[in-house]
Amino acid sequence: MSNNLLKGKKGLIFGALNEKSIAWQVAERAYEEGAVFVLTNTPVAMRLGNINDLALKCNTVVIPADATKVEDLENLVKETMNILGGKIDFVLHSIGMSPNVRKGRTYDDLDYDYLDKTLDISAISFHKLLQVCWKLDAINPWGSVLALSYIAAQRTLYGYNDMADAKALLESIARSFGYIYGRERRVRINTISQSPTETTAGSGVMGFDALVDFTDRMSPLGNADAYECANFCVTLFSDLTRKITMQNLFHDGGFSSMGMSNRAMAVYNKNLEECKDCK
Ligand SMILES: NC(=O)c1ccc[n+]([C@@H]2O[C@H](COP(=O)([O-])OP(=O)(O)OC[C@H]3O[C@@H](n4cnc5c(N)ncnc54)[C@H](O)[C@@H]3O)[C@@H](O)[C@H]2O)c1
Repeated sequence: MSNNLLKGKKGLIFGALNEKSIAWQVAERAYEEGAVFVLTNTPVAMRLGNINDLALKCNTVVIPADATKVEDLENLVKETMNILGGKIDFVLHSIGMSPNVRKGRTYDDLDYDYLDKTLDISAISFHKLLQVCWKLDAINPWGSVLALSYIAAQRTLYGYNDMADAKALLESIARSFGYIYGRERRVRINTISQSPTETTAGSGVMGFDALVDFTDRMSPLGNADAYECANFCVTLFSDLTRKITMQNLFHDGGFSSMGMSNRAMAVYNKNLEECKDCK
């Protein structure tokens, strides 16, 4: 269903790998709501996933770019403005990857070259993107920039590893650049802290299925899925949310405000005896 919330708006969407990707769902919903946009991902992701199918569906193109490379970002942003015929109104940064998580290195045995990559890909790329857009003056007044985050930025969750540090940095960048971009150009910058969601990146987290079950039991409204996240993104790209900036917005069915729920307590009680020695 379309409400034309993004009619006339131009965008740039990072991070659609396959149908499960949060960015994929955002692109489909943004298209339904009347937006035009360019899609981007790394050349490897373009080969491994099926972003070109998404481009066909949304009547657009894919420009390859590695979000850690400033020259790629400069080329991408310039090309996007050429293709769309002007400045951009919204940007989605939906990018995350930890080589430590991928290679099974635990938080007390991190490889520091991998950590540099985790932080560069998952957080500093957001700064690079914002700085490139800033210097090219690529975003219209009242534009909206969003990045995807996770509650591990505030609270320790078993298995999330160095991605927790990356998300804390990502949220800080949204605030720091949000101040400058808001003050000087009336552009808003926010992060959405999303429920665990079954995607390629999400499923890579240790114990992901148990985590999904736990957060679902703890959340009065249940976990938010990728489609629901896309709906939330559309509202934040729209003109209905112009004064929201520098925020980390929880989109998690209420999980972030819970301590213990009846549904989680039921499982906990059942396993109390067999888990008495668990650390
Ligand atoms: N899935 C979850 O449980 C969950 C929960 C909260 C937040 N998030 C966040 O949502 C965002 C999107 O992840 P997803 O769950 O849709 O998984 P996904 O695997 O579909 O998307 C991750 C994307 O990052 C891209 N990427 C990796 N390195 C890149 C680089 N150097 N340059 C450009 N792109 C690069 C990948 O190609 C991929 O498209 C991430 O920031 C993730 O941390 C996910």
